[in-house]
Amino acid sequence: MRIGILTGGGDCPGLNAVIRATVRAVEVEYGGTVIGFHDAWRGVLEGRFESLDVDRCRGILPRGGTILGTSRDQPYAADGGLERVREVVADLGLDAIVAIGGEGTMGVTRDLHRDGVHVVGVPKTIDNDIPATEMTFGFQTAVQICTDAIDRLHTTAESHDRVLVLEVMGRHVGHIAVWSGLAGGATVVLVPEQPFDLADVSARITARHDAGRWATVVVVAEGARPAAGTLDLLPEERDRYGHVRLGGIGNLVAAEIQRRTGIETRTTILGYVQRGGSPNAYDRVLASRFGVAAADAVAEGAFGTMVALQSNAIVRVPIEQATKGLKVVDDQIMRDAALFQARPAPAAANDQRGLSGGL
Ligand code: F6P
Repeated sequence: MRIGILTGGGDCPGLNAVIRATVRAVEVEYGGTVIGFHDAWRGVLEGRFESLDVDRCRGILPRGGTILGTSRDQPYAADGGLERVREVVADLGLDAIVAIGGEGTMGVTRDLHRDGVHVVGVPKTIDNDIPATEMTFGFQTAVQICTDAIDRLHTTAESHDRVLVLEVMGRHVGHIAVWSGLAGGATVVLVPEQPFDLADVSARITARHDAGRWATVVVVAEGARPAAGTLDLLPEERDRYGHVRLGGIGNLVAAEIQRRTGIETRTTILGYVQRGGSPNAYDRVLASRFGVAAADAVAEGAFGTMVALQSNAIVRVPIEQATKGLKVVDDQIMRDAALFQARPAPAAANDQRGLSGGL
């Protein structure tokens, strides 16, 4: 068996654990070989790759990022990209390509499968927004990083009697915000799934500060947006792939809270800290199990599938299931998170738009 492997899209802790596991399974279990393409699909198109074996992967389990590099380039965006992928697969004698990535990478994997290329997907993203899998590796580590930040913000907010706003990643879903908000006892959690109204949020914060000197920490998902007509937003920027550049909503929220409440408010935007560094134990195990399952899928000829976590078991799902929209925050955890928020301000009691409250 001979596999090509690549890591695409935003990096995250755990990528190297997948690479290490796939290499080990292919070499030890199936007596095969693996090559790693550099910088995702760009490396496939440009023919840049390296041989990977168990010795090359020693020591990379706890290492963040990806030893192969990554990019957001897509073969279908390149002239003759599909033909080039087919040519590289044939020239290198590959049985399949294992593509580790998020929404964009899984979409390419789906299309390549449709066009007859042997591919297997491995779901990766700190956002945890990929359907058909309960968890993606990278997410739990990001939640821990954000929770540690919230813990630290509590003490400084209390010392200064301030409101501290923490902007976290997550693209167009609020999993990181809700999980870390719950874990960190945040006062307010704003997510894309629930457009927020800062009049309501500010009234709740004022009521809380009037009731006592407690830290107020507001967690804002970078994709959270105000209810229509309640706040003017800055024009959206896009990167060279056409993706909306998120980030900055935390500053707007903080300025508006301070203006409305008169309470000193500061912002922390965690940014790429959430994607850096070593994976936690959970992500190392999940990533390793995904890597082994990807090798098994190739060995069994289960092309056009994505490995996934369902009911605590590693399964395979048709790649099409993994690319049907985004997995959004479910109502149950949203309700659980709301229970830990402070009571709505009396004036706003009937206007339950956002999640707000606190320890
Ligand atoms: O998808 C992972 C992610 O970290 C998102 O949470 C974030 O919005 C995006 O990547 C940032 O993309 P880039 O690394 O291209 O700036």
